[in-house]
Amino acid sequence: MTSLLDSATQNLDRNGYLDLDVDPTLDLVEEINRLKKEKNAVILAHYYQESEIQDIADYIGDSLGLSQQAAATEADIIVFAGVHFMAETAKMLSPSKKVLLPDLKAGCSLADSCPPHLFRKFKEKYPDHVVVSYINCTAELKTLTDICCTSTNAVQIIESIPEDRKIIFAPDKNLGAYLEKKTGREMVIWNGACMVHEIFSHERIVKLKNRHPNAKFIAHPECEAHILEMADYIGSTTGLLKYTIHDPATEFIVATEAGILHQMEKASPNKTFIPAPPNNNCACNDCPHMKRNTMEKLYLCMKYELPEIILPEWVIKEGVASIDRMLEISAKAGLVSK
Ligand code: 13P
Ligand code: SF4
Repeated sequence: MTSLLDSATQNLDRNGYLDLDVDPTLDLVEEINRLKKEKNAVILAHYYQESEIQDIADYIGDSLGLSQQAAATEADIIVFAGVHFMAETAKMLSPSKKVLLPDLKAGCSLADSCPPHLFRKFKEKYPDHVVVSYINCTAELKTLTDICCTSTNAVQIIESIPEDRKIIFAPDKNLGAYLEKKTGREMVIWNGACMVHEIFSHERIVKLKNRHPNAKFIAHPECEAHILEMADYIGSTTGLLKYTIHDPATEFIVATEAGILHQMEKASPNKTFIPAPPNNNCACNDCPHMKRNTMEKLYLCMKYELPEIILPEWVIKEGVASIDRMLEISAKAGLVSK
């Protein structure tokens, strides 16, 4: 007879997570902390995770900080509270460690917008170009990439490439356009985008700014150009958080995924943070992929050590060089995302 665990394991591919009931009387915070110690596991969480997950993580950060942590950790198990490409990056950087993701279907619209087989054909048209890919892409895309970048180090990465070399930038067209403007380098840009950062309404932000004339408007570079043009500050999630801590303003309108507001409110309890409005009435600035992870799924994945990120050896070998190059350039530029 198959046990509940056996059938949940068999259904992992279909469900993306272990679909098992969790005793509702369990203290999940206590249980997760116990499992962390027992298994020498570290929980790395992105700022877009739900607040409870952020509060139990050993490290919360942006994509650069998370990859720096994944490369340096001495834990035996990395539990990645984030999305699939982030957990893949951790596996590529620490291939001997077990990397767990609470829900394998926590994907990314931006990574999905650049299928490797299509990108390979696209790249063939520009054989003399250096390929820079935003880290929000699949492990396989990283095998077709010369240097990765994140929103924290993208300017420095582009500037590290000699002026006479031409560049392909993938997969985010909005970050690509922002980088062209910032660095003055023309690039061949893949036509991808993030579903969360494309949803902000120019008109509704203008109205909100009029109602809050003293509020600073801050935005992530994955937003469209017409949104970025209005911004007082543009930066990665860590950049945005730091800006709200150090800027004297007491009100901020924030154009990125709403999960970051948790750390902003914790760091500056006397300041007000308003999520930038999307172009309809849904809660679209919640990333549906990031929010697939829950405390229950986190607990189950730590208890049973499933689902695990497994990558073919050739993908790790050929893909990690682009991440290593990014980390080297970041270290040289003194970019440590904390
Ligand atoms: P950063 O946290 O690196 O700014 O990235 C934002 C993002 O969209 C991650 O999915
Ligand atoms: Fe991908 Fe956008 Fe979600 Fe980040 S916020 S994981 S870029 S879909």
